Amino acid sequence: MAIIITIDGWSACGKSTLAKALAKKLGYVYIDSGAMYRAITLYFLRNHIDWTDVKEVKQALKDITIEFNFNENTLQSEIYLNEENVEYVIRDLVIAEKVSDVAAIKEVRTFAVAQQQKLGERKGIVMDGRDIGTTVFPKAEVKIFMVADERVRVERRFKELFEKNPNITIEEIKTNLEMRDYIDSHREISPLRKAEDAIELDNTNLTEKEQLDFALLLAKKKIVENIPA
Ligand code: DC
Repeated sequence: MAIIITIDGWSACGKSTLAKALAKKLGYVYIDSGAMYRAITLYFLRNHIDWTDVKEVKQALKDITIEFNFNENTLQSEIYLNEENVEYVIRDLVIAEKVSDVAAIKEVRTFAVAQQQKLGERKGIVMDGRDIGTTVFPKAEVKIFMVADERVRVERRFKELFEKNPNITIEEIKTNLEMRDYIDSHREISPLRKAEDAIELDNTNLTEKEQLDFALLLAKKKIVENIPA
């Protein structure tokens, strides 16, 4: 029987790398919930939405459609905002600088969480984010909470963004990660925290393969337990 696997944790911990690899191995759907908050932020910025105004936020959300479509070339699911592929543009630092503020808005979370829960209705899904094991799927069969030393997280994100923007500095990345982690873990609604039944995975000194092996073991155990007798 298919299960739900949630992967939450701090920014730039490698959640999506692990989630993607795990979904691929299991033949499950992978959903990047952070991409939804990033796409909403992109829409708000492009359309000059004043997100401190609840009325404006509510109206704007009515005009937003978010979908994930599988790209046959990259073999990844990519996010579409109102039918435009925004998978790459949402990774910019400009979005990263605002996304935590947007993700703290109640109406935005209600909108995103409803879609995330719908995507998980048929199970067979790996979803990563900040509140997936606590709020979106509190009954998920496998919950992983990822942590890693800040130095390692900053270096990883720097490598990723430097390829696209050679002007970016380590300092900018460090400031952004610290700010996002603070806002994400201190907001009123669904703050980032480890679910009581989540298993912590510190990947500071682990290879991608070691992390995948660890997660696969947990998942396979649960999948077997879930087979009806
Ligand atoms: O995973 P990410 O860095 O792409 O996420 C971007 C932001 O979205 C993150 O700083 C906090 C927010 N987020 C959230 O509040 N809840 C989630 N489930 C996923 C992301």
